[in-house]
Amino acid sequence: MVSKIALPVFLAAATALASNSSTDSYAPYYVDCPEDIQLVRQPRSTSLAESEWVHGRKAQIVEALGRYLWNLDLGDFDTAEYMDRVLANIDYNVPVIGWANSGGGWRSATTGVGGLQAIDERTAGAREAKVGGLFQMLTYIAGLSGGSWPVSSPTFHDYEPIGDMVADWQLDVDRFTEDTVEGYFEVLVEKYEAGFNISVADMMGRGFAAQTIPGVNRTWSSIPEMPGFKSFSGPFPILIASSINRSSPVEDGLYVPSWEAPWYEWNPFEFGSWKLGFVPTKYVGTVPNENNTAEQCVVNLDQASFVLGSVASAWNYWYLEAVSNDTLGTFSKRNGAIQKRDSNVDELVELVDEVFSEFFNYTVSQISNPSIPNAFNPDENLTLADGSEAGQSIPFLPLIQPDRKLDFIMAWDDDADDEPYTWNNGTNIYDSYVFAKAHGLPFPEIPPVREMLARNYTIKPVLFGCDTNLTTTRDATSPIVAYFANAPYSWYSNFSWSTTTLSSAEANGIMQNSFNLLTQGNGTLDSTWTECLGCAAIDRSLARVGMQRSQACEQCFQEHCWDGTLTAGVSEDFVLDPSLALDPSLGYAEWTEEHPDME
Ligand SMILES: *[C@@H]1O[C@H](CO)[C@@H](O)[C@H](O)[C@H]1NC(C)=O
Ligand SMILES: *[C@@H]1O[C@H](CO)[C@@H](O)[C@H](O)[C@H]1NC(C)=O
Ligand SMILES: *[C@@H]1O[C@H](CO)[C@@H](O)[C@H](O)[C@H]1NC(C)=O
Ligand SMILES: *[C@@H]1O[C@H](CO)[C@@H](O)[C@H](O)[C@H]1NC(C)=O
Ligand SMILES: *[C@@H]1O[C@H](CO)[C@@H](O)[C@H](O)[C@H]1NC(C)=O
Ligand SMILES: *[C@@H]1O[C@H](CO)[C@@H](O)[C@H](O)[C@H]1NC(C)=O
Ligand SMILES: *[C@@H]1O[C@H](CO)[C@@H](O)[C@H](O)[C@H]1NC(C)=O
Ligand SMILES: *[C@@H]1O[C@H](CO)[C@@H](O)[C@H](O)[C@H]1NC(C)=O
Ligand SMILES: *[C@@H]1O[C@H](CO)[C@@H](O)[C@H](O)[C@H]1NC(C)=O
Ligand SMILES: *[C@@H]1O[C@H](CO)[C@@H](O)[C@H](O)[C@H]1NC(C)=O
Ligand SMILES: *[C@@H]1O[C@H](CO)[C@@H](O)[C@H](O)[C@H]1NC(C)=O
Ligand SMILES: *[C@@H]1O[C@H](CO)[C@@H](O)[C@H](O)[C@H]1NC(C)=O
Repeated sequence: MVSKIALPVFLAAATALASNSSTDSYAPYYVDCPEDIQLVRQPRSTSLAESEWVHGRKAQIVEALGRYLWNLDLGDFDTAEYMDRVLANIDYNVPVIGWANSGGGWRSATTGVGGLQAIDERTAGAREAKVGGLFQMLTYIAGLSGGSWPVSSPTFHDYEPIGDMVADWQLDVDRFTEDTVEGYFEVLVEKYEAGFNISVADMMGRGFAAQTIPGVNRTWSSIPEMPGFKSFSGPFPILIASSINRSSPVEDGLYVPSWEAPWYEWNPFEFGSWKLGFVPTKYVGTVPNENNTAEQCVVNLDQASFVLGSVASAWNYWYLEAVSNDTLGTFSKRNGAIQKRDSNVDELVELVDEVFSEFFNYTVSQISNPSIPNAFNPDENLTLADGSEAGQSIPFLPLIQPDRKLDFIMAWDDDADDEPYTWNNGTNIYDSYVFAKAHGLPFPEIPPVREMLARNYTIKPVLFGCDTNLTTTRDATSPIVAYFANAPYSWYSNFSWSTTTLSSAEANGIMQNSFNLLTQGNGTLDSTWTECLGCAAIDRSLARVGMQRSQACEQCFQEHCWDGTLTAGVSEDFVLDPSLALDPSLGYAEWTEEHPDME
C-alpha cells in the first residue's frame, strides 16, 4: 500500500546532496577516459569480448550436453558417437541455445522463472522429467519488460540454483510501499543533482532490483568480474528496449515506440543497437567527440536497477490507464478494462506523479521514459521505451542476429494478449516472424494467430522450423523455436500482470504450473514431448557433425512441429478459455474460491 510520501524527509535528502561521486552510489559520475578508447563500434559483429566469452562457455556446455543426452536417452540415437563428433570441434559443433522471456509484468516474470526452474538440472524432479539440464546448455538468455527480471537475476546471483534464487526474491514482500518508494526517491535525487535525466524508470528500477538483484548498487559492467560469469557457469544475459524520438507516433498525448524504431540491448560488455552501433557498457552516457573518444567518460549509469527500469518502463500506459479508468492508454495488446483495476498500481501512479511534479516540476511525458546522453547522435537524448509496447513482446531480436548463430530458442510467452481471459494468442511470436522476414533475419515461419489458436499452440508447447524449408532463410541458419505460452496445467496462471506480491503457496503453485507445462505433466499428458524438445535442441548441430536425425526424433517432429499447412483457423468469435490440463473438471470459478488472491 502506498500513500502520501513523507515530503520533509524527501526534501532534506534533496538539499543535503551536493555530493561527491562515490564508487558505490547510484549516481553516475565522470572519470578520465582510457587514452586509446574508441567509444562507438560499428554493429557488424558481436564484440570480441563476447566471442571470447562464448568460447569459454561452450566448454561448460559440452559437459552439460553429455549429461543431458545420457539422461534423456533418445532411443535409437547414438549419443556416444554424437558426443565424440561434437568434442572434435567444440566451438563449431556445440548447439547454441537461447531462452527468451516475454514481457508481461510480474506475471511473465514469475511464470517465466518457473520455466527456467524446470529446465535447471538442480531442481528436484527436473532430470527425472527429462528437461533438467537445458538451462545448463544455454549460451544466451534474453528478456524485456517483466521478462528482464528472470533473465538478469541468475547472473547477479552467480548462477545459483534457480529455486534458491527465487526464494531470495521474497515474492511475498511488497517492494513499493510508502517507505520504500520514499527511499528510492532519495537515491534518485543524487542522479538528478549530478545532471542526469531521471524518470519513473529510475524509481521503479530500484524496486525491481530490490527484489531480483542482490546488492543495490550493482552495475552491468561489473558482471565480467563476477565469479559465476567469469567461470562461464550460466548464460550470457541480454536485455532489450525499444525507443522513441521526436518523430515517434503519439497516443493520447504520449510518445509510443514503433517496432521500426531502433531496439537497444544491454549486455555485460556493451550497450547499443544492431542498427547504430555499440559502446562499452561501462561508459554508457558518454558522448564521443569527432575522434570517437572523449576526455571525460561517464561511468555508473549502467546501474542494474536503472537497467531493469530502462527496459521495463511501460509507465505511460500505466498512467493513462489509471487516470482514465482504462479508457485511454490500454496496452494495444491487453484489454485492461476487462481486468480488474489494481488499486495498488493506481495509488502508486498517483504518488509518483505527485512527487515528480511537485519536486522536480516534471510533466508526465517527461517522466514516462528514461533518457540518457546519446553516443550515436549528440543532438538528441536517447530515449528508451518498453519493448512490450512495440508489438513484439518476446525478445527474439538479439537472439536472431546472424552473428550469434543460434540453433535453438526456447521462447516463454506470457504477454497476456488474448481477450477476455488474458491467456496468450500467439500475436507476439507471429509479429516477430513478420519482422524477421521483412528484415532478412533468420526465423522459422509462424502461422497467423487464428491458426495458432485452432491448433492449441498457445496452450501446449510446439516447435517451429524443424524443417529448414519452413524458415525465412530456407536453410539451417534459422533456429528452431520451441514456443511455450503460459497456460493452465495445475494452476490458473492468468493472474494480473500487476500482482506485485505472492504468498509462498501461490508462488509454488505458479512454479509448479510452469513445470507441468514444460514437461507436459512429467509426460503424463504427452509421452514424447520432452524427448522431442531434446531432438530440437541438437538438431542443427546434428547436421553440422554430419549425423542423421534418429527415427524417434523424425517421428516426434511429425507430431510436435508445425508442418506449414493452414486450416480454416478459429472463427472470429472464438474465445480462449482453457481449463486445467491436469484437472479439467476444476473450473476457474470453483478454483478461484479456493484462491481468492489470484484474480
Ligand atoms: C569532492 O571531493 C573533492 C576532493 O576531495 C573536493 O575538493 C570537492 O570539494 C568535493 N566536491 C563536492 C561537491 O563535495
Ligand atoms: C547505494 O547507493 C546509495 C545511493 O547512492 C547509497 O546511499 C547507498 O549507501 C549505497 N548502498 C550500498 C550498499 O553501498
Ligand atoms: C538531455 O537530457 C539532459 C538532462 O535532462 C538535458 O540537460 C539535455 O539538454 C538533453 N540533451 C539533449 C540533446 O536534448
Ligand atoms: C525515430 O523514430 C522513428 C519512428 O519510430 C523511427 O522510424 C526512426 O528510426 C527513429 N530514429 C532514430 C534515430 O532513432
Ligand atoms: C581529433 O583528432 C585530431 C587529429 O589528431 C585533433 O587535431 C583534434 O583536436 C581532435 N579533436 C578532439 C575534439 O579532440
Ligand atoms: C470504470 O470502468 C468500469 C468498467 O467499465 C466501470 O464499471 C466503473 O464504474 C468505472 N469507474 C469509474 C470511477 O468511472
Ligand atoms: C490476439 O490478440 C491480439 C492482441 O490482444 C488481438 O489484437 C487479436 O485480435 C487477437 N486475435 C485473435 C484471433 O484472438
Ligand atoms: C515548471 O515547468 C514549466 C514548463 O514545463 C514552467 O513553465 C514553470 O515555470 C516551471 N515551474 C517552476 C516552479 O519551475
Ligand atoms: C529527459 O529527456 C527527454 C528526452 O530528451 C526530455 O524530453 C525530457 O524533458 C528530459 N527530462 C528532463 C527532466 O530533463
Ligand atoms: C484443442 O483443444 C481443445 C480443448 O482442449 C480440443 O477440444 C481440440 O480438439 C484441440 N484441437 C486440436 C487441433 O488439438
Ligand atoms: C526443401 O524444398 C526443396 C524444393 O521444394 C526440396 O527439394 C527439398 O527437398 C526440401 N528440403 C527439405 C529438407 O525438406
Ligand atoms: C511433476 O514433477 C514435479 C517435480 O517432481 C512435481 O512438482 C509435479 O507435481 C509433477 N506433476 C505431475 C502432474 O505429476
